[in-house]
Amino acid sequence: MSSPPRACVIGWPVEHSRSPVIHGYWLSHYGIDGAYEKEAVKPEDIAVFLRDLSEHGYVGANVTLPHKEAALRAVDQADTAAKAIGAVNTVWLDKQGLLYGSNTDAYGFMTNLQALAPGWRASCDVAVVLGAGGAARAVLHGLIAAGVRRILLTNRTAAKAETLAREFGSPVEVLSWDARDSALPACGLLVNTTSLGMTGQPPLDIMVPALPTTAVVADIIYVPLETPLLAAARERGLTAVDGLGMLLHQAAPGFEHWFGIRPEVTADLRAQVVATLEAG
Ligand code: ATR
Repeated sequence: MSSPPRACVIGWPVEHSRSPVIHGYWLSHYGIDGAYEKEAVKPEDIAVFLRDLSEHGYVGANVTLPHKEAALRAVDQADTAAKAIGAVNTVWLDKQGLLYGSNTDAYGFMTNLQALAPGWRASCDVAVVLGAGGAARAVLHGLIAAGVRRILLTNRTAAKAETLAREFGSPVEVLSWDARDSALPACGLLVNTTSLGMTGQPPLDIMVPALPTTAVVADIIYVPLETPLLAAARERGLTAVDGLGMLLHQAAPGFEHWFGIRPEVTADLRAQVVATLEAG
């Protein structure tokens, strides 16, 4: 008899990861005999750990900081999203033992956006994306795949935004950080992927009142759940999309690969994760 499937999240450090709460919830909710664990793996050991994943007893894993780029190099096959984003956050083994890698962050962001702001596309001729790190890459990939034709990308360090614009091509135009407010009157969707507004960081300085009344404002930060940006958007009556939904939705494809059921993101799951965030 084969033993119950096990998956894990691999990071360095890994203690802060919320993935065990999410997958643990689904395992228990669907009554699956399986396990989801944390693996602290040093950067110099990640390639070997992934190569030996099945010897470690795992059918797959989530990969988090700082291993996502190394995981792309380590897998046997990467999907389109992983290649475009340049990072892998979900891996699974097939029956032949080949290691597959995907990046589900764009899927998570877009699915959450669609769920919380179903009308976003109709009012989104222009999107403005703040930041040019790993999360910005996932957001750009998702927005371009959804057909957004003009994305203004702005980042404190302009060179990083220019690199992304070259990679992602014509929909992406670079806007200087100091001129970010000038893009807001035409902006249908504003996405913050910077760390500004996160607990312990300064708030994002942006002129929310300059946005049109139809604009949607999304933040990928989920600590706090209601960032100053989202609070200002709600105050103006705009649709505000928080970052927790992205975290929950990005977890679903991996769970299905490892445990055979596509899990649902529900209000109850969200409440459980919020409770762990509030506990610190
Ligand atoms: P992630 O992979 O989660 O996107 P990251 O790569 O560390 O994280 O990116 C953080 C983003 O927040 C970057 O766009 C960063 O801008 P720089 O590229 O100029 O570093 C942005 N950021 C962080 N602190 C900032 C600040 N005080 N002002 C403006 N942008 C800031």
